[in-house]
Amino acid sequence: MTNGWSMYIIALTALMIGGSFWLLLGNRTRPGDSEAKTGHVYDGIEEYDNPLPAWWLYLFVLTLVFAIGYLIAYPGLGSYPGLLGWSQTGQWQAEVDTAKARYEPVFAKYRNMPVEEVAKDPDARHMGQRIFANNCAQCHGSDAGGARGFPSLRDGDWLWGGSAEAIGASISGGRQGGMPPWGQVLGEEGINNAAHYALTLSGSLPAGPESAAGKAAFQSICASCHGAEGKGNPLLGAPNLTDNIWLYGSELETVKHGIRNGRMGKMPAFGGQLEADNIHLLTAYVLSLSDR
Ligand code: HEC
Ligand code: HEC
Repeated sequence: MTNGWSMYIIALTALMIGGSFWLLLGNRTRPGDSEAKTGHVYDGIEEYDNPLPAWWLYLFVLTLVFAIGYLIAYPGLGSYPGLLGWSQTGQWQAEVDTAKARYEPVFAKYRNMPVEEVAKDPDARHMGQRIFANNCAQCHGSDAGGARGFPSLRDGDWLWGGSAEAIGASISGGRQGGMPPWGQVLGEEGINNAAHYALTLSGSLPAGPESAAGKAAFQSICASCHGAEGKGNPLLGAPNLTDNIWLYGSELETVKHGIRNGRMGKMPAFGGQLEADNIHLLTAYVLSLSDR
């Protein structure tokens, strides 16, 4: 606020308060002239101009005195900050600081504890669960059981690895699954054969002529990521295709769709939004879900 505006608002406020005083005290009827009339006549009935009851009058005066006291102590007169130095942002900061100070010992207790230890602590798991409910449940489900395209975090099967380090890295840095589309390369028949072969790896389909025809393509194209035996590769986030746990589903059409168009599952990075202490607790919580 520029100085001119500040002065303008101060002058206006002072004028209003002074004006209120004048209106209240300067214009009041004095006790004694009790015969005075207002001059209003209704159906021949006249109105006396009696003074306000004293308690009422002084209540008004009190509100004005309060206003002056308030404006001296707190911000309100232009850019004058008030004697007490109170401000909204200051109060917010103070509340944040109090909360931090209050939770600091709780976080400090777990901060230097290895994730595996934290995962065994029921209180820590409880805190982790709350953080999970607020940040992760919309994609992974409130029980972390996952949904189509969003991996279950309870089943002990990991795209990117299930060690404390790998889980922590998934949460802080995010993950980008990258299966390129193979439609152009394989053609519809090739897709069909490769899908059949991929599904025999988990026993979801019995072996047959189509899977036999798909084996060569699998070994030359798919094995570079999913491994020669189809067991996956946590460095690439390539799923294990032999375990009958599916990110997108085991229906033939679903698998063909994935091979034809590719798959690009994305886990957002939380390193920038959540404090390191929160990620530590979350990692322990996620680890505890499958580690039993
Ligand atoms: C916007 C949706 C979304 C949110 C929110 C989300 N995730 Fe994910 N997460 C995913 C997807 C999708 C993947 C799988 C990425 C891929 O396909 O490789 C994933 C993968 C993961 C993985 C790796 C799983 C594995 O099998 O290796 C972990 C661990 C994980 N998420 C934990 C979390 C935690 C903890 C949170 C909360 C802080 C969270 N996620 C929030 C979508 C989400
Ligand atoms: C460049 C590495 C790469 C190649 C090559 C590749 N994939 Fe994948 N594949 C992935 C990744 C990564 C995912 C997980 C995608 C995601 O997280 O969204 C995946 C997912 C899949 C899935 C879904 C699994 C599930 O759990 O739902 C199937 C099925 C699959 N691939 C089969 C194949 C077949 C068949 C081929 C060969 C034609 C192939 N992939 C080639 C990396 C690859």
